[in-house]
Amino acid sequence: MSIKTDLDNSASDISALSGYISEPHLNAWHSESLSADTLLLNLPDACIDEFDKALARTGDVEIPDTSNREHFKHCVEFSEQLLQRLDSNALGAVIVDRIPSERYHELDNRRVCGMFSSFVGPLMAQNFAGLTLYDVKNTNPKNPEKVRKSITNHAQPYHTDGGWHRVPAKYVGLYCVRNAQSGGGSKITSMLSAYKAMVESHPEHLKTLLVSSPWDMQGEHAKDEPGFLMNPMFESYDNQFVSRYYDSYVRNGYRVKGEELPANLDAALNTMKTVISEQPDIRFEMSGGQFQYLNNWTVLHAREAFADTEQTPEEKTRHVIRVWNN
Ligand SMILES: [Fe+2]
Repeated sequence: MSIKTDLDNSASDISALSGYISEPHLNAWHSESLSADTLLLNLPDACIDEFDKALARTGDVEIPDTSNREHFKHCVEFSEQLLQRLDSNALGAVIVDRIPSERYHELDNRRVCGMFSSFVGPLMAQNFAGLTLYDVKNTNPKNPEKVRKSITNHAQPYHTDGGWHRVPAKYVGLYCVRNAQSGGGSKITSMLSAYKAMVESHPEHLKTLLVSSPWDMQGEHAKDEPGFLMNPMFESYDNQFVSRYYDSYVRNGYRVKGEELPANLDAALNTMKTVISEQPDIRFEMSGGQFQYLNNWTVLHAREAFADTEQTPEEKTRHVIRVWNN
């Protein structure tokens, strides 16, 4: 299958895309009872027992094999509930509460994270080298403005993950090994709700966003390939709505391509940012052992800045492991 046929490419058809937006999803996001509590999903102890037995059985492998589902009956059952909550008809966001992260050393936390996410779907590589468990951690870079935000303690604005991919990950998981002692809160909001608001109030700007733009690939490409890939902000795939959004990745994409950002795209991006900032959202602070999972095609996420510095002891620094599933 060629890359082009992977997506339906019905980019210019605003109403066709609107047909993929589910009313139950919109109702959930505009409900008066919307709160962080609605995201919680209790992880049964039986699932933790299955992880512990796998750790004892499988030794030092990076991610223990979960293909023998007889060993993971409770995890399989739990993942069905989880996937229902992540469906495009549902809110599309869950906080799994919780894995006893304090009981595991660093490598076992990675292994449990890898096992848990394998029940959501196949793990997707997050960089050109094929990494599937990505550490979101402040590395105290010298020029934090010039590197990706995931390795700084800076805030991250609303975005979807991996938007430069032709088919971005459908699900994004963030396993909180430890949160920061101060800051590092999470925010989520509906991309489908923002799309609907654009249809109703800013159709001309929306049309602009449906035209493919160069996406900065964050250096995740072969040396002889261009550092951008042309993608629209919204399209359909497999009869589902796919969104990709990261304001600065599109602006930087033009820089990488060596072209000026068109004035109409600048205005459309600014309008989209305003629409997103004005709609209902959920703010929460993850605690150690919680696993945030999102539908990356329907829900946006953001992170607040946190206070870790070079002086913060390693065992107290914020550490989140990110996974992508397709
Ligand atoms: Fe992200």
